[in-house]
Amino acid sequence: MTKLIVPGKQELRGNVKVAGSKNAAVAILAASVICGKKVFIENIPDITDVGTLLEILQNMGGEVRRRGRNAVEIDTSNVRSSTVSPYDLVKKLRASAYFMGSMLARQGKAEVPVPGGCKLGPRPIDQHLKGFSALGAEVEVEHGLVKLKASRLVGTHIYLDVVSVGATINLMLAASTAEGRTVLENVAKEPEVVDVANFLNAMGASVRGAGTDIIKIKGEPELKEASHSIIPDRIEAGTFLIAGAVSGGQVCLREVIPQHLDAAMAKLREAGVEVSASEDTIWVNGASRVQPADIKTFPYPGFPTDLQPLAMVLLTRAEGTSVVTENIFEGRFNHVDELKRMGANIKVEGRTAVVDGGSSLTGAPVKATDLRAGAALIVAGLSAEGKTVLKGVEHVYRGYEKLEEKLAGLGAEIIFSERDEDLRNAEKN
Ligand code: EPZ
Repeated sequence: MTKLIVPGKQELRGNVKVAGSKNAAVAILAASVICGKKVFIENIPDITDVGTLLEILQNMGGEVRRRGRNAVEIDTSNVRSSTVSPYDLVKKLRASAYFMGSMLARQGKAEVPVPGGCKLGPRPIDQHLKGFSALGAEVEVEHGLVKLKASRLVGTHIYLDVVSVGATINLMLAASTAEGRTVLENVAKEPEVVDVANFLNAMGASVRGAGTDIIKIKGEPELKEASHSIIPDRIEAGTFLIAGAVSGGQVCLREVIPQHLDAAMAKLREAGVEVSASEDTIWVNGASRVQPADIKTFPYPGFPTDLQPLAMVLLTRAEGTSVVTENIFEGRFNHVDELKRMGANIKVEGRTAVVDGGSSLTGAPVKATDLRAGAALIVAGLSAEGKTVLKGVEHVYRGYEKLEEKLAGLGAEIIFSERDEDLRNAEKN
């Protein structure tokens, strides 16, 4: 199994280019089947989630041509099967749920494995299914498959019970070719939702209001060829910002959209970290002492849940106690036990974690349970005393492009190794 050796006491210094957004890319790739023609997508991140989705698209009959590392041409004219497969690949990737909305919009039929819950707690799709049936689809869940069928999709008014990125995007996809008008209320306002809406409109759809509480969609019978460039990944950007602050170094992010990180930058400043931004760069100086700061995660534009594990690492260095409240997922504190193995002093009660700062972390053998927890443990290892050996590094590869190269560019060394003796040596000293 691949493990990662993270030597400690490494200060990050330098520039890093932020990749395209994973969460926009996976939705846009699934949406590409709606037009049934050629689409050209640029600034796509080179990460395993994208690779998996491209494999699924090929398996469905799509033709995929990579144009360099970060661009792809997809022709979905031959996509016929409504069964999204292969099962073992599709199950791995929660974003495969987007094929429900896109295949409904394309041909009124979809069979997609029920997306797995993951380490963040149960992740139901009741809002997705409620919306599909409101649009006129028959919904059946059996043998681990979600089966959707609609002789015709008819626009309607849908009020989401829960602010959900996935449901908002999935229903935008399904409504894009439904007859008449659809109004979606109480929707997610994340930048990734806006990027998907922009891609749909590039294909000739009529989606208005993405990024606000109400999205209005006028169904279009047929969508056309399009090209699109994915927005920068605000969570990768936030990860490197916090890594710079934790390491005590100075990091400059390039090709980022600063306003997508307003909440994160505000919280870093509240914690005493020096952060400044210009039109497409953000600069962080981690030299100052870290102050305690309370964090509550909320839907955008609130503090993003995906940066909560990273922020917690910073707070372990604060001179005082901070309270972290996770309002989005009920099981998103799996990184806490691993941070405690590194010497952090954190107590979890339900959705709240109390972080007693002032502890300098020590390297330890730790395990990543999900993508952002893995990233947080790497950030913690970079500044800890001694070496950290991370298992479950494949989670990190899912959403962070060229991580070792980017960290090397910032002067930090991490070593991926399959060889047990490397790992035994690392664990020894
Ligand atoms: C997206 O997940 C992101 N994933 C997540 O990023 C991100 O943390 C999350 O949005 C933030 O809300 C992708 O975009 C691929 P939700 P998603 O539907 O769409 C509940 C990462 O690390 N809910 O917005 O699955 C749900 O249980 C990942 O990049 C329902 O109750 O999240 C959760 O508590 C992790 N019923 C809340 O809503 C539903 O039908 C928000 O979930 C749908 C969701």
